[in-house]
Amino acid sequence: PPLSTFINSYDFEKVASKTLSKKAWAFYSAGATDLITRDDNKKAFDRIGFRPRILRDVTTVSTETKLLGCDSSIPLFIAPVGMAKLAHPDGEKAFAKGAAKAGIIPCISTAASYSASEIVGFAPLNHPFFFQLYVDKNRAKSERLLREVGELGMRAIFVTVDAPVPGKREADERLHVDESLSSPISGVKAINDSKGGGIARVMGSFIDPGLSWTDIAWLRSCTNLPIVIKGIQTAEDARLALEHGVDGIVVSNHGGRSLDTSPAAIMVLLELQRRCPEVFKSMEVFLDGGIRRGTDVIKALCLGAKGVAVGRPFLYALTYGSDGIERLTEILKDEIETTLRLLGVTSLSQLHPGLLNTRDVDHL
Ligand code: FNR
Repeated sequence: PPLSTFINSYDFEKVASKTLSKKAWAFYSAGATDLITRDDNKKAFDRIGFRPRILRDVTTVSTETKLLGCDSSIPLFIAPVGMAKLAHPDGEKAFAKGAAKAGIIPCISTAASYSASEIVGFAPLNHPFFFQLYVDKNRAKSERLLREVGELGMRAIFVTVDAPVPGKREADERLHVDESLSSPISGVKAINDSKGGGIARVMGSFIDPGLSWTDIAWLRSCTNLPIVIKGIQTAEDARLALEHGVDGIVVSNHGGRSLDTSPAAIMVLLELQRRCPEVFKSMEVFLDGGIRRGTDVIKALCLGAKGVAVGRPFLYALTYGSDGIERLTEILKDEIETTLRLLGVTSLSQLHPGLLNTRDVDHL
């Protein structure tokens, strides 16, 4: 169907489920084991309600913001996702082109299907990019990579820490992976082994499970860019991140792809509000997992997030190339604007926890 008929993020998912190859659909939609956390990420948003205010002149609203110092047309960026080529031959290059047109920031994964320099070249000079780092067992390789992405002008490093080993993703394991698939940034090639053909598992063999808090100092010594820890799931670790002086955190469970039955991302954000509110003052706090609607974005912002990231919907939109990325962003922007107006606020800085009713989840 033509893009003009798409009116929400689920429309892209429905079409992608029919048009992607079986393997691509299995890899993209996969979650760990029983898919509890993958699905809870969205369901938990639906258990939080709004407390809309009225009569506040909402003629003009602004969705613009800065994420880690970079302009963004909406408080949302493209989550780092590997192997975008499985959705469209242009892969992450189309992310770059579509995101630049829509005024949003793509976060490029270490498991991207093109090299960092190829991807960046598809957006106008100076369009901001973030880079997601999986630390290599061969630390010298990561050091080189950090230098390279710094030279390419990327604006922040997101270090993913919730997948020292990959979660068990059964739908993806059951299907053979095409062994010509490779990941130019990490230099890893796909292979089918005795466990199956799970893409993240067979291509994630370079990731260092030995990474620990003491390595933050090493990372700091390798780059001058802001460092963001992606994969915070408890108040204790948010506090540790703050103590280690990082610039930001992403509350995330990897879209329910790592440890199944870990808490929905928005529940962790509530925990941070209650147990370590100080983290919101000194770091930028982001959230990803289950964001499908403008209302989800605004709920996360009411609870202190500076912005959110969206993963799967952008991969599904990518089946239409960069036009799909633009269209999905336009839809989400429209939903965010409508939510702001109906909540009685005109800018993101006016959002606060009092605009939410969290009674249904406060005891959890
Ligand atoms: C991911 N994610 C991910 N995260 C990361 O840090 N590096 C990566 O290479 C990948 N790769 C990846 C591939 C695919 C197919 C998916 C769906 C996800 C996790 C991603 O950044 C993000 O945390 C989740 O996708 C957010 O959840 P939603 O928006 O997909 O529900």
